[in-house]
Amino acid sequence: MCGIVGYAGGKDAAGILLEGLSKLEYRGYDSAGLAVRDGSGPVSVCKTKGRLSRLYEKTEGGKTMPGHIGIGHTRWATHGEPSEDNAHPHVSDDGLVTGVHNGIIENYLELKDKLIRKGYCFYSATDTEVAVKMVDYYYKKYGLGPIDAIAKTMVRMRGSYAMGLMFSDYPDEIWAVRKDSPLIIGVKDGETFIASDVPAILKYTKKVYYIGNLEFARIRPGEVTFYDLNGEEIKIEPTEITWSADAAEKDGYEHFMMKEIHEQPRAVKDTLHSLIAKDSDRSFIDLSKTGLTDETIRSLEGITICACGSAWHVGMSAQYVIEDLARIPVRVELASEFRYRKPILGKGQLVIVISQSGETADSLAALRLAKESGTETLGVVNVVGSAIAREADHVLYTLAGPEIAVATTKAYSTQLAALYALAVKAGHVRGVISEEQYQYYLDELQKLPDAIQTALSRKEDIQRFAAEHVATKDVFFIGRNIDYTSALEGSLKMKEISYVHSEAYAAGELKHGTISLVEDGTPVIGILTQPDLYEKTLSNMVECKARGGYLVAVTTEDRQDILNTADFVLFIPKTDPHFTASVTVVPQQLLGYYMSCSRGLDVDKPRNLAKSVTVE
Ligand code: M6R
Repeated sequence: MCGIVGYAGGKDAAGILLEGLSKLEYRGYDSAGLAVRDGSGPVSVCKTKGRLSRLYEKTEGGKTMPGHIGIGHTRWATHGEPSEDNAHPHVSDDGLVTGVHNGIIENYLELKDKLIRKGYCFYSATDTEVAVKMVDYYYKKYGLGPIDAIAKTMVRMRGSYAMGLMFSDYPDEIWAVRKDSPLIIGVKDGETFIASDVPAILKYTKKVYYIGNLEFARIRPGEVTFYDLNGEEIKIEPTEITWSADAAEKDGYEHFMMKEIHEQPRAVKDTLHSLIAKDSDRSFIDLSKTGLTDETIRSLEGITICACGSAWHVGMSAQYVIEDLARIPVRVELASEFRYRKPILGKGQLVIVISQSGETADSLAALRLAKESGTETLGVVNVVGSAIAREADHVLYTLAGPEIAVATTKAYSTQLAALYALAVKAGHVRGVISEEQYQYYLDELQKLPDAIQTALSRKEDIQRFAAEHVATKDVFFIGRNIDYTSALEGSLKMKEISYVHSEAYAAGELKHGTISLVEDGTPVIGILTQPDLYEKTLSNMVECKARGGYLVAVTTEDRQDILNTADFVLFIPKTDPHFTASVTVVPQQLLGYYMSCSRGLDVDKPRNLAKSVTVE
């Protein structure tokens, strides 16, 4: 949700800010703006409704806004429609304070009333304008400077915020403020950057500071000073980012999504390699980096997995695998629901929170709720140093690298791989699977990157299918057991980027109501990889065919008989049935992708969505 960048240094700020925003556009793209300052001159602000390219044109690539410090923003609207007035930066009445913001100020109406009573006027519908004017109010009321004004405002604001601020009285500095929304600070010689996410600054520096919750920072060229809520100076150690700058580029692909789909074999391999070790005569899963001990795993009585969107689908798949291989009862919860329940947790339980960004507001709240109950927590996270990674008791990092496309692909695949490793490990240490079975599963896991690669090589057929079915209005994805969980992901991929209505159903559930929606030509995509359930799912597909459904099957290469029933078949390599979701997802990702392209849509930036959902 919303991307923030900031720069203080010796170069032209506007160009650097625009470039940084282009790397954050996946966070929101309904309007954009810049505020830049040249020495002690006035702060110049430029805003546009629409994509960042319009701001680029309006500022001639930043040339019309000279200056060496500045802040920028790309917006995903929460309060107020996308418009130039509602676009950030927002400025206080006399131009003393200028600010950009990501998050939601929950008590903004109450604060706005207070400010109106004090004579402030408002030109936008945003909570951000209120926050900026609160800072202005405290700055003028107490006359103690930015530290005091920011700290007092933070105490008054409820909700979540990452903010970049500029004060007209302080021409050489910008300020970074954070509570529950991501914000990082990058430093190199003579230059300092702020950004909502690493890709915006990767090109310039890999030395990054993760500003803590309810903390803020003064940014000057090449230096940063951190403060706590009392305005006391605090020390934060920098972290070295390992991602390469190229990882955040399209690398010749038309879209980030396609690039990331193709990165899956590598990403899954890297993630597995980070978890599977070898000694002289055997392989084993090493979770020592996570701090999760064999003793803890042995003593587990239950696991609760909390996540949102595709990460929740990973949890659904993992539930089947963990319960079967380790015989630990698993519940899978939507984080947005879990956080408002009174879950029965405590000793003997483990709460696993899965999140690519590590910043998803509901997942973070679920983690905090689990921690409050004294339950041990594990974060399965991609972004190093993100809030979930910092707050979870244990962290299992996926090695997907930066994921830019809004629709997740490689992060999903690496999350699956990480949870499979956990399931196999748990099965072994709890004595549910023998040493021989353990080695078998380890072998099977390590075959996944090649299986994914093979599934990728069949994309032309899928492209053709998408072109032929471009006018499709509804699609159903069905499967049983792990195939059902894969269908959930396939269906989300279809709807989020191609805007085709789709639903995923447990194949046996379809005839309890939903089958009435199947009409002549409605594509019904069946996932059939579970040997014991193949015939049952096939029967459910045939029931759809009898009602006019157009059958698409995703199944393993040994099931050639399916050609007698399905209208279109996507064969995938055979793997152990526990791990098939890693492979069945590939044709479904490609289907969503090509359907979106065939319909002429913006694959990487689907309407109404943002990559990282940092508000409730
Ligand atoms: O960063 P997270 O993994 O916590 O994000 C969770 C969901 O927002 C995310 O998976 C979302 O559903 C994607 N758009 C799916 O492609």
